[in-house]
Amino acid sequence: MIGRKNMGRASPVFLVLLALGFFFATYNLLTMIIHNREKAVADGLDGVPDPIIQMPGNANTKTTVRTKVPFHVALTATDAPYSKWQCRIMYYWYKKVKDLPGSDMGGFTRVLHSGKSDDLMDEIPTFVVDPLPAGLDRGYIVLNRPWAFVQWLEKASIEEEYILMAEPDHVFVNPLPNLALGGLPAGFPFFYIKPAQHEKIIRKFYPEEKGPVTDIDPIGNSPVIIKKSLLEQIAPTWMNVSLRMKDDQETDKAFGWVLEMYAYAVASALHGVQHILRKDFMLQPPWDLEVGKKFIIHYTYGCDYNLKGELTYGKIGEWRFDKRSFLRGPPPRNLSLPPPGVPESVVTLVKKVNEATANIPDWEKEEKE
Ligand SMILES: *[C@@H]1O[C@H](CO)[C@@H](O)[C@H](O)[C@H]1NC(C)=O
Ligand SMILES: *[C@@H]1O[C@H](CO)[C@@H](O)[C@H](O)[C@H]1NC(C)=O
Repeated sequence: MIGRKNMGRASPVFLVLLALGFFFATYNLLTMIIHNREKAVADGLDGVPDPIIQMPGNANTKTTVRTKVPFHVALTATDAPYSKWQCRIMYYWYKKVKDLPGSDMGGFTRVLHSGKSDDLMDEIPTFVVDPLPAGLDRGYIVLNRPWAFVQWLEKASIEEEYILMAEPDHVFVNPLPNLALGGLPAGFPFFYIKPAQHEKIIRKFYPEEKGPVTDIDPIGNSPVIIKKSLLEQIAPTWMNVSLRMKDDQETDKAFGWVLEMYAYAVASALHGVQHILRKDFMLQPPWDLEVGKKFIIHYTYGCDYNLKGELTYGKIGEWRFDKRSFLRGPPPRNLSLPPPGVPESVVTLVKKVNEATANIPDWEKEEKE
């Protein structure tokens, strides 16, 4: 009765509001549809063949439904100054892109495998795990990664169903969607991981009855987005395989610094898991020239140029950005931008580093060690 009376009185205003409401609802729905369609096209799921994305041979099309569920970003790290400054930049860019449209990024954890907390605990969400027993890594620190994942998955409560395995020298340049498709994880194909060219060695860890060596993806554990339940199965095997590979002289010699990547690739194959290979997962300056729609800049290679903007790779350039120039502490704020002619990917990288260091409080704080 009261409602009726009020409604009668307010009806012109009410109708206008109703109409506006309809308009915005329809508008939102339309933009959502357009947005999702664009996303589907970008993801190559619109019937358009896309060489950027390579599906595993055994992919079951039923599982290839885009997974719009959040993933947890897990960053394995140590407490060395070299690892710390990279983690700070990495976390800064995670926060910047996390809530942008198109992102499925959930929570973030730095999985610190030094066995003790450090002075970044308040700045970056961190979970401390144990390093391998002394001597087991034989100086090859990254052997700690699988053990770190085993412990973290076992002990931490992780809300998300999916995990992105990330590394300190990753800079998010575009909001990252969940690239996994249901039970199919997504990984980045590295040109230098070539299981088929190491058949004899691979067979020591991937026996013939398991299948052809081409089952083994040309990937490492990072970047990979994978269902947590799968990673829980793979991680202990990954640890096991990496330790056995390190123990085997011939394998250690052949794989060198990428041994732990091969170990992940073999371990996942042992569990029958193959990855969608996404070339757009990341870019690696100076070899990749443009950021475009790729998601992560991986600054593992030094960028050396002369003042004419020509790459002088392997020879220290008149202008350079190389993470290894800063082994003992952070790079200074406001690094000089490269000379004209240097690719956009390198310019963007330096700008991203500068933006992060300009905005992170106490950037060049004294190391408390
Ligand atoms: C690791 O490998 C050893 C053999 O070297 C085996 O006995 C053990 O069960 C394996 N553990 C896991 C978790 O795969
Ligand atoms: C950064 O360095 C450039 C010279 O390379 C200088 O012109 C600019 O003012 C500096 N910016 C800040 C914020 O210090």
